[in-house]
Amino acid sequence: EFIVKCPAHCKETKQQVYGTGVFASISSICNAAIHSGVITNSGGKVIVRKMAGQNIYKGTNSNGVRSLSLPKWRESFVVSGIKLRNTVQTAIAFKLFLSLHLVLCFSGEAKERSDLPIYPGLHPFKTNLHCKVDLAFLMDGSWSIGKRRFKIQKDFLAEVAHAINVGVAGPMMGIIQYGDDPVTEISLKTYSNSRDVKTAIDKIVQKGGLSNVGRALSYINKQYFSDANGNRGGAPNVAVVLVDGWPTDKVEEASRLARESGINIFFVTIEGPDDNEKHNVVEANFVDKAVCRTNGFFSLPVSSWFALRKAVQPLVKRVCDTDRLVCSKTCLNANDIAFVIDGSSSVGTGNFRTVLQFVANVTREFEISDTDTRVGAVQYTYEQRLEFAFGQHNNKADLLNAIKRINYWSGGTSTGAAITYAAEQLFSKSKPNKRKIMIVITDGRSYDDVRAPALAVHRQGVIAYSIGIAWAAQDELEYIATDPDKEHSFFVDEFDSLYKFVPKIIHNICQEFNSQPRN
Ligand SMILES: *[C@@H]1O[C@H](CO)[C@@H](O)[C@H](O)[C@H]1NC(C)=O
Repeated sequence: EFIVKCPAHCKETKQQVYGTGVFASISSICNAAIHSGVITNSGGKVIVRKMAGQNIYKGTNSNGVRSLSLPKWRESFVVSGIKLRNTVQTAIAFKLFLSLHLVLCFSGEAKERSDLPIYPGLHPFKTNLHCKVDLAFLMDGSWSIGKRRFKIQKDFLAEVAHAINVGVAGPMMGIIQYGDDPVTEISLKTYSNSRDVKTAIDKIVQKGGLSNVGRALSYINKQYFSDANGNRGGAPNVAVVLVDGWPTDKVEEASRLARESGINIFFVTIEGPDDNEKHNVVEANFVDKAVCRTNGFFSLPVSSWFALRKAVQPLVKRVCDTDRLVCSKTCLNANDIAFVIDGSSSVGTGNFRTVLQFVANVTREFEISDTDTRVGAVQYTYEQRLEFAFGQHNNKADLLNAIKRINYWSGGTSTGAAITYAAEQLFSKSKPNKRKIMIVITDGRSYDDVRAPALAVHRQGVIAYSIGIAWAAQDELEYIATDPDKEHSFFVDEFDSLYKFVPKIIHNICQEFNSQPRN
């Protein structure tokens, strides 16, 4: 429960409300309060109480606010008026209000941030409601930049820190200064509010030296974004490189490696090379080579240092647009993986346990969530059974439990039909930005033909792996597997050797992922 002070005229902000009486947490608190009749459009203090997520939120028209319907949301709130019985309670409520600093027309999710300063006339939630990113700035400390512009750079960083609202439930921000070598000025975990970050920025002293951006990118990849330094894991890694002119070393390779490990790289080039200067540049088109896609999203050219201020809002908007931070996708968090498990009689109860262990051991290596890797499973004999669908278990613990609970079926072996079933029940529900991976595990020759079903799923873009044990047929394993067979098809004589293929499968999935062009 907490208290929120609603400013006047929230209605005019048109911030959305979902539900009636009980509102989805993404709703505007104050508009929900108006909808509920707790306050009018002239504002006032209200009590907000958190509630569990609902399966349905019904939209209605009430007190001039039209709320919308929403199916299923993870969290809700209700709003009520403040009725204080005595002055002590008033004092407590007032203190609570001060410590929360919440003044909002905006979403109830903003409440998760306890460190929001109030900026008159500025609505901090507008741009970065969901801006949970681990954000590092690589600032240019080279001599070429000069004292005055270095100060402009610091002012720019301070403005970004202000605009983005640093906080443990939102963005965390750190700074590296590069010259000949990079140094950490502010680690990701040091400050949990914008004010402290700004104070620390003010104290940064120019190092001088060259402008070795490539070296700095290697540094963030190998050291800066480590867990020990405050990388939270659940938040995309973003690095914004500020460059005066152009780098004095090559950036392509270092940048690619950083991107492959999941770091989104933005380049803000200030006073970049003009036509007369291009021949001085160490690596032509260095920005295009360093960023993930050449569609302009990850690069922001700024014509002069004095125009840099104008880049604050556009940059904040982009780094907070987590849906577009596609470069943070790695081989471990970008997949829909379907296990197609042979439950025929020849396997036997004990070996079936070993197969499930294998499935669990492979699963354990991935980052599991609805927006990361999802796992589904089908067991088959003559028939097929959906054990669980993609997204049915959205965290690792639940998923591993569900795998453990799969019951051995026992029966015949129709691998072809099982592949078709997996395509219909699982891959047809794949999200477009996920990589579809099928892992078929079988211990014998199929009673039906596997060729046509395998070809059909390959054509749908599924990358198929086959794992054969004991009596599995080599030719079938190869039909099932995506080419080249030797990287997608494995055979072991006995179930007890299955464990050896866990690292191999992960390695191959990642190698294949990293070999895909990213532009
Ligand atoms: C799974 O992992 C456990 C723990 O590392 C190991 O003991 C077991 O042999 C593995 N089994 C398989 C089939 O991979």
